Amino acid sequence: MPRTKISVIGAGNVGATLAQFLALKELGDVYLFDVVEGVPEGKALDMLEGQPHWKSDSKVYGFTTVDRSKYENLKGSDVVVVTAGLARKPGMSRDDLLNKNLEIMSDVAKNVKQYAPEARVIVVSNPADIMAYAFYKVSGFKPERIMGLGGSLDSARFRTFLAQELNVSVEDVLAFVIGGHGDDMVPFIRYSSVGGIPISNLLSKEKIDEIIKRTRFGGGEIVNYLKTGSAYYAPGISITAMAESIVRDKMRVIPCAAYLSGSHAKHYGAEGIFIGVPIKIGSNGVEQIMDIDFNEDELALWKKTVDSVRENCRKVDEFLSK
Ligand code: NAI
Ligand code: 2OP
Repeated sequence: MPRTKISVIGAGNVGATLAQFLALKELGDVYLFDVVEGVPEGKALDMLEGQPHWKSDSKVYGFTTVDRSKYENLKGSDVVVVTAGLARKPGMSRDDLLNKNLEIMSDVAKNVKQYAPEARVIVVSNPADIMAYAFYKVSGFKPERIMGLGGSLDSARFRTFLAQELNVSVEDVLAFVIGGHGDDMVPFIRYSSVGGIPISNLLSKEKIDEIIKRTRFGGGEIVNYLKTGSAYYAPGISITAMAESIVRDKMRVIPCAAYLSGSHAKHYGAEGIFIGVPIKIGSNGVEQIMDIDFNEDELALWKKTVDSVRENCRKVDEFLSK
């Protein structure tokens, strides 16, 4: 039986952290790609040399794609994760990264299409919902095979802050965040609970509002500390959870940016865009999109995030039509 192959394009903070988590968990052999000469090879070898201590037999390889033929090493990838691109600095929004990362994403998507046409793809580069849309448009892949990172990370942050506030195990906090992976993401109170108890029974509205605000700006909080880049440990493990559900066909339910069409587009009032919704992840990628109901207040928040994602998707269409 062939070994599972996971390719990570972009060997920066997120890509390298992710590669290490994938290898530690022995989810497959990891192939790391980057444009900076020597960096993917060096990081891959460094990780590989630690594997005896981790008791993991996952192999880790690195390839510099200045020599374009190195992209051939994507062949046979079961999963491709795209983390290539610029990260935020203080004062920048995720949307500020749009133009530069669009150029990078178009190039990456063409190569994935050429060499790994069967892969399931996780798009991480920001703004992630929009980059997932760009990847879809350029690659022509079936949308079920593409998902963007957002909710997996944002929900982990939401769970962490709730667990801290209530002094309970993070394991017992179920919470999810949907919508675009931007400042108007929607942390969902009604569908969040602690040991099955709705969080509105456990915390005051003021406290919940405070935690929601912190979750929405969770990425910015880290950028303000780091100053030279953005978060990568929590993103790394959030992507690992998605990749694990694909390679082990676990059918985990995780909010991710997925393509809305047909009855789901009608339900969510958003046609033909990628945006964070609860999905079931398995070996085919997006196995199922789950439709959830909104009350009036939630609907207003949902419409706002849809509008902002939709507007940025139009920018992708303009960019690609040039
Ligand atoms: P980083 O700057 O540490 O790494 C980015 C890497 O991409 C660099 O090593 C760079 O050389 C490489 N790169 C640039 N162009 C490339 C190309 N054409 N092909 C291959 N590699 C290329 O940045 P970091 O922290 O790893 O973040 C990466 C991206 O992920 C950023 O856009 C960031 O905003 C995004 N991100 C998204 C998250 C999400 O929840 N969706 C979470 C965390 C980061
Ligand atoms: C974050 O939320 C940078 O989008 C990334 O940390």
